[in-house]
Amino acid sequence: MDKAVDPAPMQAARDTGSLPQAAMDAYWMPFTANRQFKKAPRLLVGAEGMYYRDAAGRQVLDAVSGLWCVNAGHARPRIVKAIQAQAAEMDFAPSFQMAHPKAFELAQRLTALAPAGMNQVFFVNSGSEAVETALKIAIAYHRVRGEGARTRLIGRERGYHGVNFGGISVGGIVSNRKHFGTLLAGVDHIRHTHDPARNAFARGLPAHGAEFADDLERLVALHDASTIAAVIVEPVAGSTGVLIPPQGYLQRLREICDRHGILLVFDEVITGFGRTGRAFAAQTFGVTPDMITCAKGLTNGAVPMGGVIVRQQIHDAFMNGPEHLIEFFHGYTYSAHPLACAAGLATLDTYAEEGLLTRAAELEDEFADAVHSLAGEPHVIDVRNIGLVGGIELAPLAGQPTRRAFDIFLDCWQQGVLIRTTGDIVALSPPLIVERAQIDRIVQTLRAAIRRAA
Ligand SMILES: Cc1ncc(COP(=O)(O)O)c(C=O)c1O
Repeated sequence: MDKAVDPAPMQAARDTGSLPQAAMDAYWMPFTANRQFKKAPRLLVGAEGMYYRDAAGRQVLDAVSGLWCVNAGHARPRIVKAIQAQAAEMDFAPSFQMAHPKAFELAQRLTALAPAGMNQVFFVNSGSEAVETALKIAIAYHRVRGEGARTRLIGRERGYHGVNFGGISVGGIVSNRKHFGTLLAGVDHIRHTHDPARNAFARGLPAHGAEFADDLERLVALHDASTIAAVIVEPVAGSTGVLIPPQGYLQRLREICDRHGILLVFDEVITGFGRTGRAFAAQTFGVTPDMITCAKGLTNGAVPMGGVIVRQQIHDAFMNGPEHLIEFFHGYTYSAHPLACAAGLATLDTYAEEGLLTRAAELEDEFADAVHSLAGEPHVIDVRNIGLVGGIELAPLAGQPTRRAFDIFLDCWQQGVLIRTTGDIVALSPPLIVERAQIDRIVQTLRAAIRRAA
C-alpha cells in the first residue's frame, strides 16, 4: 500500500503558519532536538538582506548569518541571478577528467584572496569534506615525498571540524565523538586555549596563553615528529563557543610546526570571507598555514561548496610520475559544481563591490562595545569578541546544562532575532552588511532575554 502523503507542507505552512504533525514525521533533522522542535516548529520561508521571514509572516533579524555562512546577507540579486542563469545554461559537468571554465575562474579568484604562496584550491561541497580532504592531502603529501611514516594527525580539544570520521577524530567536542566508536587511529590532541581565570572579558585577542601552543612539543616528544603529518586548528574556535586565540599563540604553533616539518592546517570554515576583518583569519593574525579549509561564505551559503586552499609546493609535490596518471585519488561528483562556481563568483564580486571582506574590521570596535555591554548582566561569566564574532558565556542552570542558553535562544526568536547557542554560550555572527542600529537591536534583545531567563 502507498504511504499516505500529506498535502504540500509549504502550502500548509502558508495557510496556518505551521505544519501538521504528520507532515513533519519523515524529516530527521540534523543537530536538532527533533521531538521538541516538532512540538513547536520554527519554520523559515523567506529571506532578504538582514532578515528571515517565518511561516507566520514575521520578520526575523539574522544575527548569525544563517549558520555563519550568509556573509553578504540574504538573496543578494547578483548571486540569485548567477545561479538561475547557470542552471539554465549548464546544470552539471562531470568533475573527473573533465571541467568547465567557471571552476578555473573561481579557483583563480579564490586563491588571489588567500595569503601569498597559497595558489591551489581543491573544491569540495562542505566544510566537513574540506577537512577530510585536507587531512588526506597532508598524509599523501608526506608519502609522495618519501616520508610515509608521517601519518599522525593532531587536533585540539574543543575543536570542531565537521562531522565526518576524520573531522570528529581530530575534533575535540565530546558529544560529537562519544557515540561513534574508536574513530581514526593515530590521532592526538593539544589542549584547548580557554583560560577564563586569566582571560575572562578580554576584548579581542586574550593576553594570556601563547604558551598553550607548546603542548604540541609534548606530543612531538611522545610520538616523535617523524610520525606526525599535520596539526589542524580553527584560528577562532566557533562551534565550541567562540574561543579567540591568545596573543602570539598561532605564531608559536607555526614556529613549532616549522621546526618539526609538520603541516599546519587552519580550518577557516567560519572565519573565512571577512568574518575577522580580512578575507581569512590567517591574514588578520599574520600567520600563514600550509592549508586553509573553507566553505560557507564561499558561496554566501547559497549553494553548498567548500575548498582546500593549498600552498603551491604541496600541490607540486604530487605532480610527478607519468603524466597520464591521476596524481591524487580523491574528489567528489559535485566538486566544482557549475551552480556552486557561479554562486561563488557572484559572491566574490559582491564582497569586492561592497568592501565586505574588511567591513568587520571597520565595525569591530562598535561591535565589541555592544557585546561587552552585556558584562554585568545576570549569569554572564564571560564575553569574547573578534571582528564580527561575539561569544557570551552564561553560567549553566544548576543541574541543567545548556538549558539557560536555549531558553534565551527561544526568547530571542520570539522577539524576532535569530541567535545561536552552543552549550551555555551565545554566539553572534551577523552578516557583514549589518547596520549599527541592527547591532543595537540584537544586543538589546539578547540583554532583555538574559534578564528574563531563569
Ligand atoms: C570550523 C568548521 N569546520 C568544519 C565545519 C563543517 O562544515 P559543514 O557543516 O559545511 O560540513 C564547520 C561548520 O560549522 C566549522 O565551523
